[in-house]
Amino acid sequence: MKAVPLLLSLLVMVEATVAIASDTTALPRSGYEFQSSDTQSLQDDDFKNPGMLWVDMGKIRYSEPAGSTGQSCADCHRDLPESVAVSFPKNNRHLGVVVDLTSQIQHCRTVHQKAESFEYESEASLALTVYLGSLSRGQAFQPVDSYPQDQLKASIDNGRLYFNRRKGQLNLSCGNCHEESVGKMLRGDLISQGHSNGYPIYRLEWQSLGSLHRRFRSCDIGVRAQPHDLGSATYIDLEAYLRERGAKLTVETPAVRR
Ligand code: HEC
Ligand code: HEC
Repeated sequence: MKAVPLLLSLLVMVEATVAIASDTTALPRSGYEFQSSDTQSLQDDDFKNPGMLWVDMGKIRYSEPAGSTGQSCADCHRDLPESVAVSFPKNNRHLGVVVDLTSQIQHCRTVHQKAESFEYESEASLALTVYLGSLSRGQAFQPVDSYPQDQLKASIDNGRLYFNRRKGQLNLSCGNCHEESVGKMLRGDLISQGHSNGYPIYRLEWQSLGSLHRRFRSCDIGVRAQPHDLGSATYIDLEAYLRERGAKLTVETPAVRR
């Protein structure tokens, strides 16, 4: 119970500077609304958005032959549907597990192209993920009933539990910040509802593109909890839950953050 005053001491009320509606928890609100107008304008303009560099790299990679098969992604997937990114995480029948988009790409690379695997957070992996993510720009997150898969439902339930569980030395849950402290400042950031609809994002502080799982690690480390591996089942479950929680938000990949 010591954690609560500690959190309060970290948070600073900034009601005057928050231009968002007073009820910050009722509707899903994109993280975009919690950024300064300078950062928003970087996201708004594809020519200024640094994340577009990775989209362009991903587009090139998509058509490059790779591995011992010499096949490119495009050779097997001439036209992926616009909904491609919003359909992940999903149950991959071939693997028998729920995968995120990055893990699907990894699977195609090693199994179908027979090429060397990418590190989860490598430039190549981020580039392909953000390129496919950008194809879904403007598409809405659908509630789970649109994806009637038992395994996926179990994954969402696990993610919900993780989201609401207190953890780390600060003994805080994700919801303690992203539901109960929305609109307050924490170390220079305005706390948003913690949605995933802009990922991978370009973060000015990282001076790089970064994945959603990298963001999860930062938040876990922030409460001094043991972070999980990039691409771990725990983070895929969390990602599945965030899509459900953010239903109706539209994809903004690549978003720009402070
Ligand atoms: C101590 C407060 C705190 C806790 C606890 C916390 N976060 Fe965060 N989180 C932040 C801050 C600060 C940011 C950066 C500002 C923002 O976008 O909200 C952030 C950003 C995010 C974002 C990016 C939002 C965007 O639009 O770019 C996501 C997603 C997220 N958190 C998810 C989580 C999850 C999942 C957990 C639990 C594992 C969690 N957070 C726990 C403070 C917290
Ligand atoms: C030799 C053919 C082949 C190549 C090359 C290939 N894939 Fe695939 N891909 C598949 C097959 C088959 C599936 C479905 C079964 C599975 O997941 O193994 C699939 C599934 C996918 C899906 C999920 C589509 C959906 O609607 O569920 C995505 C996304 C994808 N691949 C992306 C890629 C990317 C990116 C590359 C390049 C790095 C790539 N694939 C290379 C054969 C291929």
